[in-house]
Amino acid sequence: MSKRVAVAAANWKMNKTVAEAAAYMTELSAAMKDVSGPVEVVVFTPFTCLARAAELAGAAGVGGQDCYWADSGAYTGEVSVAMLKDVGCTHVLVGHSERRRRFGVPEPELTGELGEVFGDNDFTVNRKLLAGVAGGLTPCLCVGETLAERQRGEIDAVIEIQLRRGFQNVDAGTAARMLVAYEPVWAIGTGEVCDADEADRVCGVVRRAVAAIYDAATAEAVRILYGGSMKPDNVEGLVARANIDGGLVGGAALKMETFRPIIQACAAR
Ligand code: PGA
Repeated sequence: MSKRVAVAAANWKMNKTVAEAAAYMTELSAAMKDVSGPVEVVVFTPFTCLARAAELAGAAGVGGQDCYWADSGAYTGEVSVAMLKDVGCTHVLVGHSERRRRFGVPEPELTGELGEVFGDNDFTVNRKLLAGVAGGLTPCLCVGETLAERQRGEIDAVIEIQLRRGFQNVDAGTAARMLVAYEPVWAIGTGEVCDADEADRVCGVVRRAVAAIYDAATAEAVRILYGGSMKPDNVEGLVARANIDGGLVGGAALKMETFRPIIQACAAR
């Protein structure tokens, strides 16, 4: 069994009102009391729900789904790390593929000029990560290849470059305490889960890249989550693998009925 404590992270995306968030967090606290085994739970909510979610979070962490790197200023529509801290956040998600120009996501209406609104790249993601760290949040850095990159056999190279750029100027101690989520873009919200052997292989690529950037101890400590259509019926097979330390869960984390078994499987691994 791994020495690393598993992480079950919920990414609500653009879902839930404040009232729904409160009901969910209350259910989550109850569910966490029944879980046996070590596990960390983090819930990434829309900005509008964060304050209420943090009030009711109990032992769970709460995080923003994005942040901006400046402390304050003329950045209409952005939210700073200090603002996330102010409402009780512990974590921040950076570089989710749905914020990186939605590449690979089959939504024809969001290509071209409309797609430009989702503007993150490896360099903005690095700034957001550094701002999160400087502000005392634990970042969860998302990486992953598109279907086209997979078909061209570029998976490992894409992951390595995303990590090298994402971790620029991040010291080893910080990297060791961070979360990295491997989310193959083609598996997100599609119901098409990456099979456990391949998910473990690519999480191993992530771990080796961290070892190459830093050292073996940092790679051994960093928690690497799998994300992309994780569900109660595939979670056990995924988190049983040596390199998968938990999940970043979208659809199945919206209801406690499906998130609770995922938390339990993470705790039991
Ligand atoms: P999904 O989303 O579980 O709905 O595929 C995962 C994610 O995008 O973080």
